[in-house]
Amino acid sequence: MTAQGIFITGTDTGVGKTFVSAALLSVLRSHGVDAVPMKPIQTGATRRNGRWCSPDLDFCLVRAGLQPNPLEYARMAPYCFAKACSPHLAAAVAGKPAVDGRRIGFRRISACLRALQERHAMVIVEGAGGVCVPIQGRQTMLDLMVALDLPVVVVARLGLGTINHTLLTLHALRCSQVRVLGVVFNATAPGRSGDIERDNIKTIARLGTVRVLGRLPFFPDVATRSTDRFHRAAAACLPSAATWLKWLQSP
Ligand SMILES: Nc1ncnc2c1ncn2[C@@H]1O[C@H](COP(=O)(O)OP(=O)(O)OP(=O)(O)O)[C@@H](O)[C@H]1O
Ligand SMILES: [Mg+2]
Repeated sequence: MTAQGIFITGTDTGVGKTFVSAALLSVLRSHGVDAVPMKPIQTGATRRNGRWCSPDLDFCLVRAGLQPNPLEYARMAPYCFAKACSPHLAAAVAGKPAVDGRRIGFRRISACLRALQERHAMVIVEGAGGVCVPIQGRQTMLDLMVALDLPVVVVARLGLGTINHTLLTLHALRCSQVRVLGVVFNATAPGRSGDIERDNIKTIARLGTVRVLGRLPFFPDVATRSTDRFHRAAAACLPSAATWLKWLQSP
C-alpha cells in the first residue's frame, strides 16, 4: 500500500526543509494528488487573530493555494511555541509544556496525522531542525519519526561540510530502522556550484548508499516568486509525482 505521508527532515535547521516541503507539495498537487502539509512542532510561532500560526506551515499553504479551516489548521500545526529555538527549550520557556497546557504528546501528533490522512491522500510532515533535536525529556525528532512511521526525506545543504552532516543523519535514521527515501540537496545561499558540490552529491550517494532525489538551486526571488513560477521551478528540480508515488509503494 502507498504510504500516505512523507516526513521531511534535514541535516540542520535552515537547510530548506520548508522550501523542499513546499516544492514537493507543488509537484504532487499539480499531478492531482491531494497532498497537504503538517508541521507538528513549530518554534518561532506567531499569533494572528488570537490563534497560533506556524510560519513554515503558512509558507507551504500559500504555495499550495490551500486555506484550511481553523480545526484543520490546528491539526496541521498542533504544537506552536513563540521562542525560535529547540522545541525542548521553547516549550520550557513558554511556562507551560505546551500551548494548551499539555506536554508535547506523540499520541496527539499521531492522531492529528491520522485525521489529516483520513481526509487527504498524502501528508507532507516537516520536522524541526535535525534528527537529534530534543523535544522533551530524552525524546528527539528521531523518536517522533519512528512513532509516526513514515518514510523520510533528508534535506541537505549543497556546500562544504554537508558530507559529514548528511552521512551522520543517514546513519542515525538507519540505526532506528527508519525508511529513508533519499536526499534532496538544496542551495541555501547564492553562488555557482562547482566541483565541490558535484563531488558532495556523488560522495554522499556512494558512502551513504542513498538515492539522490533532487537538487534545488538558490532562487534569489523566493519571497516574491509567483505560485506558477514556484510550481515550474519545483517540477524542474524534483522527480515527477508518479515517481514519488512509485517509490512510496515499493517496500
Ligand atoms: N533553494 C533556495 N533558494 C532560495 N532561498 C532558499 C532556498 N532554500 C531555502 N531558502 C531560504 O532559506 C531560509 C531557510 O529555509 P527553510 O525555512 O526552508 O529551512 P528549514 O530547514 O525549513 O528551517 P527550520 O529548521 O527553521 O524549519 C528561508 O528563508 C528560505 O526561504
Ligand atoms: Mg522549516
